[in-house]
Amino acid sequence: MTTEHHVLLRGTGVRFPCAEGDTLLRAALRAGVGLSYECNSGACGSCRYELLEGDVRTRWADAPGLSARDRRKGRRLACQSEPASDCVVDLSSVPEPAPHRPIRQRARLREVHRLTHDMAEFVFVAEKHAAFSAGQYAMLGFPSGIERAYSMSNLGNCRREWKFVVKRSPGGKATSILFDGLDLGETIELDGPYGQAYYRAGDDRDIVCVAGGSGLGAMASVVLGAAAQADAAERTVHLFCGGRAPRDLHIPEAMAMAGRRLRALHVHTAVSEPGSADSGSHQGFVHEAVVAKLGEALTDFTYYAAGPPAMTDALARALVLEGGLAADRLHFDRFS
Ligand SMILES: Cc1cc2nc3c(=O)[nH]c(=O)nc-3n(C[C@H](O)[C@H](O)[C@H](O)COP(=O)(O)OP(=O)(O)OC[C@H]3O[C@@H](n4cnc5c(N)ncnc54)[C@H](O)[C@@H]3O)c2cc1C
Ligand code: FES
Repeated sequence: MTTEHHVLLRGTGVRFPCAEGDTLLRAALRAGVGLSYECNSGACGSCRYELLEGDVRTRWADAPGLSARDRRKGRRLACQSEPASDCVVDLSSVPEPAPHRPIRQRARLREVHRLTHDMAEFVFVAEKHAAFSAGQYAMLGFPSGIERAYSMSNLGNCRREWKFVVKRSPGGKATSILFDGLDLGETIELDGPYGQAYYRAGDDRDIVCVAGGSGLGAMASVVLGAAAQADAAERTVHLFCGGRAPRDLHIPEAMAMAGRRLRALHVHTAVSEPGSADSGSHQGFVHEAVVAKLGEALTDFTYYAAGPPAMTDALARALVLEGGLAADRLHFDRFS
């Protein structure tokens, strides 16, 4: 029998069960309780809380999401805490939990498609379902006990297919397994979906998707999500893709189909290595390309972004701090 503990959010009356070995954050989301979070990986710090009663085990003690000051004040990360008894915590719930509750299931690797010199698309077929919103991610768990977040590059579907565009990280543990150690037909654990930066179908503004390197999959999914709407023919989408040099860039084939359904799909590329731009690409960082291209129309759009933290931080500065965009019109989950 699985042991279960209960977690109470102080001052709210919200209480949910947490299976032994699950984290406080994931148990809340599985129970339909919305909490503030982004990376689910210990890096961003947005799931910080204080433990008032009970015991928790910490998965990653040195997780960078906590500063030295946080540690002195006794703060913890909900995504790294496994309750070991009933607990009372100081952590506020958010009113809008994501549409799909995460579940754990096994998933079999069916196909691998090389996209660039260091990026590939991995197609898994899960045992139960593929229910998720465009722009979300899943936690992939490998036999060695390593677990990492990867964004889906497709849309939720009844074929149980979960697709991920992964960029190889030199010497990286998970990407070495994916690129070199996992054979077709092998299974891994897939836990998801997670993420708050999913496509909001009810927002009728035109949209801008900004992908830096490993963020391509999430942004391809958001473009497909917009193209799947009944009012797609009234919607313009700008997709910006950034890399160091042209060989880092790839525009997924599915974008052609999306472009036919939308009023317009404008694809822009940017390369940052000096002197590497070909005639079609902006020379510079991808956030600079967004500002240069959209100019005074910058605040007319809703934005989705995915990629390395340096890129999403620079984009947030350019759009919100310098450009005057309302912060709730920029959606991204910080990659660690
Ligand atoms: C929300 C989100 C979505 C992402 N989506 C994508 C995507 O679609 N495509 C893509 O290519 N990449 C994506 N990433 C990045 C991906 O999760 C990995 O960080 C990246 O592939 C490097 O992993 P690695 O194991 O190969 O590298 P490594 O260098 O071995 O590991 C780096 C990562 O491991 C984490 N880490 C280090 N030590 C520990 C520990 N003890 N316990 C737990 N974690 C630890 C670090 O925070 C860092 O994220 C995403 C990240 C996040 C947070
Ligand atoms: S540190 Fe927990 S969600 Fe990012």
